[in-house]
Amino acid sequence: MYVCICKGITEKQIQEAVTSRNSNNTKEILKSLGIGSDCGTCVEDAIKSLLEHAARAPRESKDSSNNS
Ligand code: FES
Repeated sequence: MYVCICKGITEKQIQEAVTSRNSNNTKEILKSLGIGSDCGTCVEDAIKSLLEHAARAPRESKDSSNNS
């Protein structure tokens, strides 16, 4: 299901971003996907989706380094 129509970002893409970064840094993930950079109406739903997935996803490691 699309979360951000302007950028064509799906809920699955958001979840994959959370998993691949092993992070729930909301601002960083939304910015990297371009979510909210146009009309901005998707931001609330995107954050909700991101946090729900982050809460469910097991953390593989609590690494203090940043993979940016
Ligand atoms: S729907 Fe995401 S920026 Fe417009």
